[in-house]
Amino acid sequence: MRALAWQSARAPWALCHAYASAAAGATATGSSPAPQRVALVQGSSRGLGLEFVRQLLLRPDTAAVIAGCRAPAAAAGLHALQAQHPGRLQLVQLDSTDESSIAAAAEQVAAFHAHLDLLINASGILHDDGMSPETALARVSMANLLKCFQVNAAGHILVCQAFAPLLAAAARENGASEERPAVIANMSARVGSIGDNRLGGWYSYRASKAAVNQLTKCMALEFERRKQRVASILLHPGTVDTDLSKPFQKNVPPEKLFSRGRAVSQLLAIIDRTTMADNGKYQDWAGQEIEW
Ligand SMILES: NC(=O)c1ccc[n+]([C@@H]2O[C@H](COP(=O)([O-])OP(=O)(O)OC[C@H]3O[C@@H](n4cnc5c(N)ncnc54)[C@H](OP(=O)(O)O)[C@@H]3O)[C@@H](O)[C@H]2O)c1
Repeated sequence: MRALAWQSARAPWALCHAYASAAAGATATGSSPAPQRVALVQGSSRGLGLEFVRQLLLRPDTAAVIAGCRAPAAAAGLHALQAQHPGRLQLVQLDSTDESSIAAAAEQVAAFHAHLDLLINASGILHDDGMSPETALARVSMANLLKCFQVNAAGHILVCQAFAPLLAAAARENGASEERPAVIANMSARVGSIGDNRLGGWYSYRASKAAVNQLTKCMALEFERRKQRVASILLHPGTVDTDLSKPFQKNVPPEKLFSRGRAVSQLLAIIDRTTMADNGKYQDWAGQEIEW
């Protein structure tokens, strides 16, 4: 077991010895430990990311969940989950648009974990103060384009880069195989499909999702070439009731507006059945492949 030498000035980790035992898969009888999975959710303060954390913590095979978010001290939802699951949820500061923050987060996680079995990039932006999706070419701006690309595309792939060694280590350290590889799930959106684009609009968001699709596909092919047991997939969650979709929900029929709980359990079912044969796939919440 690794020493508890993880405390860092910038790390609002909350960890305890109970977690350390669970992470090592130790049993009271000393019998050989069952594989214990470690999952990291990036963009976990709200919305789908927070729900992923909540549902992963309910899984007996998952010893530790790491929640990366920009402002851990303010992440009330994560603090509530920490109280409910003592010693199993770690918070780490991670701004996916800041390379030094990503590097520090990866260092902190690697100081305590020998492998990572699941990475979910759940951060995303569609609108913000002074920023809304463009309904016409005339509204496209450098600021919106860069912001969407930074959060929705660059952030995801740089987080993947930083945590790739830990994901690749899952084969060696935790039995990841062709049938049950480590998984990277990047949150995309159907509107990132160029072939499926029949309405136009939302220039920056659509283009940033097309970009994360291409970046993830490149990564998937590289892992395959290197014979690493890490499957990278792109997921469209459906329209889900979160802050991101809130301003655009009025024309969505109620049966097509998923709760966060439903959306995440559908996506975790896809993640659970992912094998290396699914590496590089772009799928919707039902597991149907989406055209690029
Ligand atoms: N909701 C939908 O209907 C829908 C549909 C299709 C695809 N998606 C995709 O699903 C993902 C999750 O969306 P959501 O609906 O859960 O959105 P949300 O409720 O608006 O949450 C967005 C999350 O991203 C985080 N974030 C934003 N910028 C960040 C940065 N620079 N570094 C780290 N985290 C950052 C936010 O953190 P802060 O709290 O710090 O701002 C928040 O936790 C996104 O990629 C989105 O594009 C959602």
